[in-house]
Amino acid sequence: MTIDVNGTTLAYNVQGAGRPIVLVHGFPLDSRIWVATAAILARSMRVFCLDLRGFGESAPVDSFSMRDLANDVAEAAEKLKIAPCPMAGLSMGGYVLQTLAKYRPEAISHLILVDTKAEADSAEGRAKREAMARDALQKGTKAVADAMAPNMLGAAPDPAVVGELRTIMESQRPETLAAASLAMRDREDFTPFLPTLRIPLRLIYGTQDTISPLSIGQAIQQRVPGSQLFPIDNAGHLAPMEQPEAVADAILRSV
Ligand code: MLT
Repeated sequence: MTIDVNGTTLAYNVQGAGRPIVLVHGFPLDSRIWVATAAILARSMRVFCLDLRGFGESAPVDSFSMRDLANDVAEAAEKLKIAPCPMAGLSMGGYVLQTLAKYRPEAISHLILVDTKAEADSAEGRAKREAMARDALQKGTKAVADAMAPNMLGAAPDPAVVGELRTIMESQRPETLAAASLAMRDREDFTPFLPTLRIPLRLIYGTQDTISPLSIGQAIQQRVPGSQLFPIDNAGHLAPMEQPEAVADAILRSV
């Protein structure tokens, strides 16, 4: 299915019945990272999985900011008449949802951050984003997938998950990956914002995540009164692909 928002067209799928929830993917990925987790959640919830602008089956775009991505999700939830509802975002999806929670709080009832960060990029991190944007445009999607793949999964990944992850990464458009790298480079520091949140904050982290380690989730939990942390064993950065039952269980206990 598709929905028109903010001058672009997003692809999404919906399954199940009951309370709605929106799941937002990371980089350089699309909504397929949520397939296994969404199937479990759909036994008791109405689960919406979106492809962010430019990603997956959504319409091609050349450049965008984190605010654009957040506005798209907020507007989609409003148009689908499910706002405010719980939303879970993995990694870049977590940056999108922190932006949404800050600037479009009317759209979200529970913020569930999965394997993500609150801080902005360091100067070194920003330079790496620029290099990745250049690589995406000059060398193509596969160069980005090659750079990211070794860090995405836990210590002993399931070969089927490795293959599926490759398929998802290699099917993204280079222009989208360049635009998203620059949007992540320019994202703001949400560290001061999170303790001011007026909605429940839940944190889900693979214990083997080396991109957004569990220690980041622990630091956020300590700073945000009432927040709750769910460590996911035997999972790296892509906990929803690696341990969908445990991630779905943590989400169901969060909403
Ligand atoms: C992601 O999974 O979305 C990315 O690892 C986020 C990032 O590079 O900061």
